[in-house]
Amino acid sequence: MDKLIVEGGRPLRGEVRVSGAKNAALPLMAAAILAGGPLKLTNLPDLGDLKTMGRLLTFMGGQVDLGQGARREALLDLTQLNKPEAPHELVKTMRASALVLGPLLARVGRARVSLPGGCAIGVRPIDLHLKALRAMGAVFDLSGGDIVARAPEGGLKGAEIRFETVTVTGTENLMMAAVLAKGRTVIANAAREPEVVDTGRALLAMGAKIEGLGTGTIIIEGVDFLSGATYEVTPDRIEAGTLLAAVALAGGEITLRGFPHEALATVVAKLKETGLIITPIGPDLVAKAPEVLEAADITTQPYPGFPTDMQAQFMAMMTPARGTSVITETIFENRFMHVGELRRLGADIALEGRTAVVRGVSQLSGAPMTASDLRASASLVLASLAAKGLSQIHRVYHLDRGYEGLDRKLVALGASIQRVKA
Ligand code: UD1
Repeated sequence: MDKLIVEGGRPLRGEVRVSGAKNAALPLMAAAILAGGPLKLTNLPDLGDLKTMGRLLTFMGGQVDLGQGARREALLDLTQLNKPEAPHELVKTMRASALVLGPLLARVGRARVSLPGGCAIGVRPIDLHLKALRAMGAVFDLSGGDIVARAPEGGLKGAEIRFETVTVTGTENLMMAAVLAKGRTVIANAAREPEVVDTGRALLAMGAKIEGLGTGTIIIEGVDFLSGATYEVTPDRIEAGTLLAAVALAGGEITLRGFPHEALATVVAKLKETGLIITPIGPDLVAKAPEVLEAADITTQPYPGFPTDMQAQFMAMMTPARGTSVITETIFENRFMHVGELRRLGADIALEGRTAVVRGVSQLSGAPMTASDLRASASLVLASLAAKGLSQIHRVYHLDRGYEGLDRKLVALGASIQRVKA
């Protein structure tokens, strides 16, 4: 497993392009299952999780070409799909594999999907996905760790569904099930995340009938057929936020090309509160680190609130800030695994249930650390940028699952990061 060696204390300068969003690309790839022709996705990032999804679609009988290099064009043709299955070997590292369940039930009326793995950030069940699909007539059995699913005779039926908790992939899964179902589906308490909107827009381009995207109520009128389409993956708001946290910690000034302004408004407002100087210039954004970073509080919430996927990076930012920061995690019950590792750098963090109290220290110092999940890995890299001396981050494969060359991008901006291949 690769590790990173970071030497802190170097300011960042220059321009960097934000890659396509992982959490949009995953459901978009699953949506190819629904298309009666090839789905072309542009601006696809080069990420471990997307390769896993590509292998899964190939296993199902799809023709999958994920393209080459950065900003790649992928062509996904699932018209010959003959094996509606997601076996454990292929999906054990990726929770988003559950996203194929809705499309498979809609397209072929059956599916066998291994219970998902992925980041160890809490229990993360998919009971809400299953409950919603059941309301559309699907039946489920558990066999050998797999969910064996069947649609009713004649296909899934539209239904009125209220999610008791806002669920991002649950909303996407259900939307993809409903676009080919008989009749109308109403999803209440739907997720409003930009990636859900992206998925919906791609389905619209394929010929689906959807209203209310980006609101808490999504209404879908089932159609008989969806065609292929071309869709551009939007820039990754979490990668953009991570790069902003990086400059806040390392110092310096960077320009982010293709910045997802609207999708990141809450994070930008919070980062301004810490003193980061942020200037939008057309589609880009210039961010300048302040002399002194000030503490600020956050509580994670579903969109448009502060994203849980930025919590670890924000905490890293607060470790050397002036003052005390209170960080409350409301989405996942076990998303503080980075705390123990940040403490190794000298961070002063007290944990009480779902709240972390970070008292800023005047200087972090480099240490060896082990990454536990995707965003936690990023937070360790960020904190290392501000630490004196050398840090080592082990198990960076988590980082590569969800960031397109984060270390490479930071090095191009002037950071000292060396990747040691296992
Ligand atoms: C997605 C994102 C992930 C992000 C999360 C919250 C993708 C591929 N992943 O994950 O990066 O951190 O949204 O913004 O888009 N829950 C249940 N039962 C369910 C489903 C969810 O109890 O069936 C709970 C979860 O445990 C969690 C909360 O609902 O406490 C929200 O989770 P959810 O929005 O579903 O997260 P994901 O879609 O898995």
